[in-house]
Amino acid sequence: MSTDEKQTSSAFLPVNTFDLVVFGGTGDLARRKLIPALYHRFCDGQISGDSRIIGTSRSERTDSAYAKQMHKAYKEFSSGNDYDDSQWDEFSNKLKYVGLDVGDKAADWKALGKALSKDKDRVRVFYLAVPPKLFVPICNGLKAAGLVTENARVVLEKPLGTDHASAQATNAGVGAVFDENKIYRIDHYLGKETVQNLLVLRFGNILLEPLWSNRAIDHIEITVAESIGVGGRGAYYDTAGALRDMVQNHLLQLLCLTAMETPASLDADDVRTEKLKVLRALRPITKDVASYVTVRGQYARGKVDDEVMPDYLTDVGVDFSETETFVAIKAHIDNWRWAGVPIYIRTGKRMASRRSEIVIQFKPVPHSVFGPTKLNPNKLVIRLQPDEAVNLWMEIKEPGAGGLRLKTLPLNLSYADNFAVRYPDAYERLLMDVVRGNLSLFMRGDEVEAAWKWVDEIIKSWADSGQRLELYQAGQDGPDESHDMLAKDGNKWV
Ligand code: BG6
Repeated sequence: MSTDEKQTSSAFLPVNTFDLVVFGGTGDLARRKLIPALYHRFCDGQISGDSRIIGTSRSERTDSAYAKQMHKAYKEFSSGNDYDDSQWDEFSNKLKYVGLDVGDKAADWKALGKALSKDKDRVRVFYLAVPPKLFVPICNGLKAAGLVTENARVVLEKPLGTDHASAQATNAGVGAVFDENKIYRIDHYLGKETVQNLLVLRFGNILLEPLWSNRAIDHIEITVAESIGVGGRGAYYDTAGALRDMVQNHLLQLLCLTAMETPASLDADDVRTEKLKVLRALRPITKDVASYVTVRGQYARGKVDDEVMPDYLTDVGVDFSETETFVAIKAHIDNWRWAGVPIYIRTGKRMASRRSEIVIQFKPVPHSVFGPTKLNPNKLVIRLQPDEAVNLWMEIKEPGAGGLRLKTLPLNLSYADNFAVRYPDAYERLLMDVVRGNLSLFMRGDEVEAAWKWVDEIIKSWADSGQRLELYQAGQDGPDESHDMLAKDGNKWV
């Protein structure tokens, strides 16, 4: 497709004027993601009027020092293509700063109140980009200071707890201040273009639904591979591991969107109720089966893209750690649609390359009329990132004389070939959805708790059965045991 034929324009739904307070306003997430996302929405004309963005953290600084700090961070972490000096200058007028000790300094909360608009109807967003132990104290502080107005909402950034009990306690504490429909629990994977496309692919086309079950699907694979290590996040990561950091949220959300029933509508509760049903139908992984259906790995020294990378222990700066940086699980959803269909999920750091994809492996045709010629079963590969695409692998006849020769080729629906638009970062969409009051792409409290319940059982099974930690070389796609797990079923990771 020529550039002229590609889809080039995007339409933006306007959002109301808002005040957005970022707790953790100088932290990693604010600098790398939130402020750049807001800048891009501003450039596209979506942030109007005298909307304000108020960063808070413990130390004191002026508005202009804060704006300068965010500018420096933007230059460091965000790509330069869309940057424009004069637009940044205009945007930075919206940036304010309030020093706030979440403790009990009433004066700080008062200062925050002063920085907010006096207009009681204005949308107020409190974004908690802070460790989860601060979620409830901040909500209580907001309430005590009288800042929770009718149009106020709170955004909770992951990790949403460290287990089922802590997630429940957080939900209860935050829920005592904000109604459930005012709580936005972020899983940034839900803001990715290709993840939202899963809904369109499944429910906007009639072709797939009749095949979308154990009748035609043999198994499903979900891979979220990263080539990066734990970077500067070792202290957090070593207490979490891949299961809590990635599976409990991102991978289970992908699994839910892949496996859920058709919701009655795209309204938040219709979608979230269907996802919850999937989570509740996940077969528990008990200690008797854990070693057959799960693999835990940790990266050792090795080469990624020809560069030698240190092992995990060196990255984290410890002599010993049992934390997994890779996990593979053979999951089952015990319901009519998915009975007997293994769903293999895996994620890991320092793997060969960055690649997230969902593979739907269809069953072979019931009877081949092509004699001994090998037929490859159809396969739908949904590439989430990078090189976003949907590929449906089919059998076709190779042209030319010389008998009936078959070839397996993809119907290729590549984003790059069809769209010449900039893909907004997931946070851009999610932040504007919060302002708009659209909860569809956010997790409900019961969803988060159900996901933790399943994950808690795995952690317990690992501990009770003394599940081994397998080493894999950096640059390798996880430990051999992960390949063996599929090989035992006659399958292999794509
Ligand atoms: C985060 C995890 O939620 O997602 C990180 O905490 C991980 O460990 C990141 O690197 C991956 O996100 P993305 O958008 O780069 O795939």
